[in-house]
Amino acid sequence: MNENLQSVFLSEEQIKEKVKEAAAWLDERFKDKNPLAVSVLKGSVMFFCDLVRAMETPVQIDFMTISSYGKSTQSSGMPKIVMDLAASVEGRDVILVEDIVDSGNTLYKLRELLVGRGAKSFTVVTLLDKPSRRKVDIKAGFSCFEVDDEFIVGYGLDYDQQFRNLPYIAVLKREVYEK
Ligand code: IMP
Ligand code: MG
Repeated sequence: MNENLQSVFLSEEQIKEKVKEAAAWLDERFKDKNPLAVSVLKGSVMFFCDLVRAMETPVQIDFMTISSYGKSTQSSGMPKIVMDLAASVEGRDVILVEDIVDSGNTLYKLRELLVGRGAKSFTVVTLLDKPSRRKVDIKAGFSCFEVDDEFIVGYGLDYDQQFRNLPYIAVLKREVYEK
């Protein structure tokens, strides 16, 4: 394991099992609804690809890039849209796929934006959730795993653009970001 990582938090097998559950949860709700699944880049990309492939419901996909933290581990409070969706969400059942909900600011802003554009429904599936750090009142419809107040990387999640391609999820050593 990389010297900056403390421990494995979730193995590939654990992730795979939960992805199946999340897909089944979505299949139950969106059968025959032709939903639009939106990946919030870059963090959710691995989860997103595994999730939509585990679904039986035919689903359209689109992508949106939201500005990240840079080197910090704190959200700025005002996430920026770096790349917008190609599709219109008007009248669509939108499934927003997030890597992690931390303060909730990003999700709050995305909900406002997409509902404002006329989405018929807005459902959030997140890989990870840090409920103890929430600053705004927002909750995912389906959350795969809860995390304490620790910084985690891998399976799409980064620290300073690193570790995204790890197939598992690991805890980053505190000394890496607290120096
Ligand atoms: P929020 O706006 O504070 O909820 O932050 C959400 C975004 O912060 C996520 O989409 C991630 O990109 C990033 N983030 C929050 N916590 C972590 C973490 O532990 N590891 C990696 N990225 C994180
Ligand atoms: Mg990020």
